[in-house]
Order: sequence, then C-alpha cells, then structure tokens
Amino acid sequence: MQLGILGFGEAGVRFAKDLSAAGLTGIVAYSRSGAKAQPGDALHAEAAAAGVTLVKTMRALCKSTDVIIALTPGKAALAAAKKISKHLQPGQIYVDMSSAAVKTMEDIAQLLDGKARFVDAAIMSPVPLNGIKGVIGASGADAEAFRVLMEPYGMNVKVVGVKPGGASAMKLIRSVCMKGLSAVLLECLEVAHRYGVLEAAAADIAGSFDERPFAQNMKRYVCGTAVHAERRIHEMADVLALLNSLDSSTRMTKSTRAKLMDVSKMGLREKFNAREPDTIAAVMDAIVALGPSKA
Ligand SMILES: NC(=O)c1ccc[n+]([C@@H]2O[C@H](COP(=O)([O-])OP(=O)(O)OC[C@H]3O[C@@H](n4cnc5c(N)ncnc54)[C@H](OP(=O)(O)O)[C@@H]3O)[C@@H](O)[C@H]2O)c1
Repeated sequence: MQLGILGFGEAGVRFAKDLSAAGLTGIVAYSRSGAKAQPGDALHAEAAAAGVTLVKTMRALCKSTDVIIALTPGKAALAAAKKISKHLQPGQIYVDMSSAAVKTMEDIAQLLDGKARFVDAAIMSPVPLNGIKGVIGASGADAEAFRVLMEPYGMNVKVVGVKPGGASAMKLIRSVCMKGLSAVLLECLEVAHRYGVLEAAAADIAGSFDERPFAQNMKRYVCGTAVHAERRIHEMADVLALLNSLDSSTRMTKSTRAKLMDVSKMGLREKFNAREPDTIAAVMDAIVALGPSKA
C-alpha cells in the first residue's frame, strides 16, 4: 500500500512517524511549504525522520499512491480537494481527515464522484497524545476498504456509516458534549475557586463521576432530568444567586436553567408518570416526537 499525505503539519508528521514505525514504507507528502523547502531545510529533516519523502506537486503526490490522506485545515479542505481532483485516478482512495463541516464533506464526495473513491474521516482525539492509536471515525462507501488497508499498521479506524459526512457529523455531535462539558467545568471550578474550595469541589465532582461507569451516569442524567426538571429549575435559581454574589461567570448556568425550563414544559414528567424511563432512547423518542426544538 502506497500512502500519500496532503498537508504535512502536526497531524501529518505524527501519523507518518507512527505508520513508518509500524512498517509502512515509501510514504510521500505534499504541502505548500514542503514544496518550497530546499534539501537540508528543517522540514526535509523532519520528513526524513518520519520516513517521508516530500514531493513538490500534487501531481507527484498522486502518482503511484493508493491512498491519499488529506490533513489540511478544515477551511482549506474543499479547495484542496478541487486542486487535487484533476490528478486523482478512479481506483485511488482520497481520505479527508480535516475537521470540516458535514456539508464540506458532502461537497467533496460530490466533487470526486466518478474521479476517485472518497472517505470522510474524523480524528476523534488529540494527535500528539494518541497518534494512530486514537479513534478515527470513517464514513462513505469505501470506509471499510480504508479501515482494512490501515489495520495492519495499527491505525484505529472505526467505520461509522456509508454516508459521506457521517464521520464528521459524529465528531461534531460529540463536541456538543465534550466541549459543553469543558465549558460547564470551567464555570463550576471558577466559582469553587472564588469561594475558596477549588480542590475540594474538584475532588467531589470527580468522585461523583467515578462512582460508576459513564454510560450509567449518562442514563441517570438524561432519564432523571426528563422527570425532575421542574425541581432542578428552583435549585439553579439558588446556584445563580451564589454565582452573582461572587461575581463569577453565569453563562453556562443560565443556559442550564433555560434548558431545564424547556424540558419541564415538554410534559415528560406526566408522560412517564413521574417515573424515570428505562432508556435514553425513550426520552429522545418523546422529545423528537414533539417536533422541532426552538432553541
Ligand atoms: N493535530 C491534532 O491533534 C488534530 C486533532 C483533530 C483533528 N485535526 C485536524 O487535522 C487537520 C490537520 O491538523 P494539523 O494539526 O496537522 O494542522 P497544521 O499543523 O496546521 O497543518 C496543516 C497542514 O496543511 C497544509 N495546508 C494548509 N492549507 C493547505 C492547502 N490549501 N493545500 C494544501 N496544504 C495545505 C499546511 O502547510 P502549508 O500551509 O505549507 O501548505 C500544513 O502542512 C486539521 O483539519 C485539524 O483540525 C488535528
């Protein structure tokens, strides 16, 4: 399997290093700065250390490669795909791993239709931390073929569907929770620090999360909130009063209170007879059945 990398920055360099260490040889890479670099420049040295030959054109990148992994900034993904499309062959797999919008991936799939095989891929964890061992979601008709090609070298590809855009959608959906949780923790720990209990509060919260596997916590949070939103609204009013008295950030807490008010108005408590439903899906079915959400 001959691999080409389009965009040779933090992720490209690390993936190349890991794949070379796993026995993949003959990797080539193209970036605009790489094309301008002279033999002996730092970029050439970095490439050589990662087992990579830098090439000067996209045409050279496409020549005799089976798979091309694009690792450009998300905002450059469509333009890069347009530029490279004239050099791609129908049998080649073009895998876009940049963090881009679902629509961008759908557009690239359409652009490459009949020109090359396309895989939408999404890197789910920090590359410097996990390299090729971190989960890479993949979607599209050729996602499974890509997974099979990369498996012998230890790349952790998980196929999430056959629709281009699916992997990027999964990453964005995940971000609602991962980034939201980070923002809530920032607000929570700020007030803890202002009140002088940072370490105790952090340990208490971590202890609560650690009591049981997260899947169980998630079910508790979702199913419990569906039927107890009303009383939690009152508690959030007291929380807001505390934050205000300490001049601490209130942005996330106000959103939590607004969300609880929305949930309370949905009538889920009545629907489930004030008893926590058994599954997250039951709650989501009930919410989606109410029609479009307004906020
Ligand atoms: N690093 C991570 O931990 C991580 C985690 C998750 C997702 N990602 C995603 O992976 C992608 C790459 O990330 P990175 O950290 O490697 O970024 P980076 O260090 O900024 O590298 C981006 C590379 O793309 C090249 N490039 C930029 N515009 C280009 C264009 N129009 N055509 C061709 N090459 C172009 C850049 O070089 P030139 O400007 O010289 O061409 C550079 O080599 C991004 O979409 C990022 O969001 C990264």
